[in-house]
Amino acid sequence: MKILLLAGDGIGPEIMVEAEKVLTALALPVMLDRALVGGAAYAATGHPLPPETLAKAKAADGILFGAVGDPRFDSVERHLRPEQAILGLRAELGLFANLRPAKMFAGLEDSSALRPEVASAIDLLIVRELNGDVYFGEKGTRMTASGEREGYDIMAYRESEVRRIAHVAFRAAQGRRGRLCSVDKANVLETSQLWRDVVVEVAADYSDVALSHMYVDNAAMQLVRNPGQFDVVVTGNLFGDILSDQASMCVGSIGLLASASLSEGKQGLYEPIHGSAPDISGQGVANPLAMILSLAMLLRHSGDDEASAARIEAAVAKVLADGCRGADLGGTMGTAALGDAVVSALNG
Ligand code: IPM
Ligand code: MG
Repeated sequence: MKILLLAGDGIGPEIMVEAEKVLTALALPVMLDRALVGGAAYAATGHPLPPETLAKAKAADGILFGAVGDPRFDSVERHLRPEQAILGLRAELGLFANLRPAKMFAGLEDSSALRPEVASAIDLLIVRELNGDVYFGEKGTRMTASGEREGYDIMAYRESEVRRIAHVAFRAAQGRRGRLCSVDKANVLETSQLWRDVVVEVAADYSDVALSHMYVDNAAMQLVRNPGQFDVVVTGNLFGDILSDQASMCVGSIGLLASASLSEGKQGLYEPIHGSAPDISGQGVANPLAMILSLAMLLRHSGDDEASAARIEAAVAKVLADGCRGADLGGTMGTAALGDAVVSALNG
């Protein structure tokens, strides 16, 4: 298996080192390659997703991605900003299905922003569409007739895009507790009405899955009121971006949530859902567990290696159950110490 490591910006390189430690400890027959991405690539080559990086990504079976985003480049033209690297990879590789699981780890109930008895019930999967929506619609700034500037981003979904993500979500629900909640804003948005209509059509193929619908504002509320009600949630790119950050704090820290971005085939990109966290980068305090859990997802989905994925996840769960905590969870362990703890749990 060919794995491309794209560490990126901010805390990306620090947490990538810890994922590499875990990969080394597993001693799997993998070919590793590396490339620049995001602000690091922009600084070196003038583009956040240089052709060489894209070519290596296309040739990889799995891409392990750290984070992109660097405040030094916040004012460069939008198409050259670090964030365009991840958006470009998602689009160029057809990575349309973003799986963002959120599950309470034993021992972390008191770290959640929610009451422990509410938080302990969390075991959900957000299936976020990743190739459409306002993210990829026409956008710009124009002058109105009255002479003021107006920014716009077009929200649009084609029925084929909704159908393929709906199939992914229904199949995921079949493999879990058989419940799927589709989140939209159909009371206001045409895009959402089409989304809902198409999800209902696809449901005909999955009589074993119980489908429900929820408006996104209500979903945001229900996610903190009673998150245990959710099994699989399917939603569009923008709503999924927001709800997955919210879900992360419900399980205790955004430093714990991994994600997989999948195409129709086996290829995938795996990344923590958090960003580059420039405020803490370079201090050795970032939580590497989401990065390490992303490696587990890579081995499972792109490597067909369920055993190694489960081993990593069990090691992370053990480390947390043993009380290992970084600053994000009110503890004092640094990035490297947490990575080392996972490695010894793997071997122990
Ligand atoms: C995420 C991030 C990205 C997104 C940014 C970095 C473009 O927030 O993966 O959730 O909005 O999708
Ligand atoms: Mg996000």
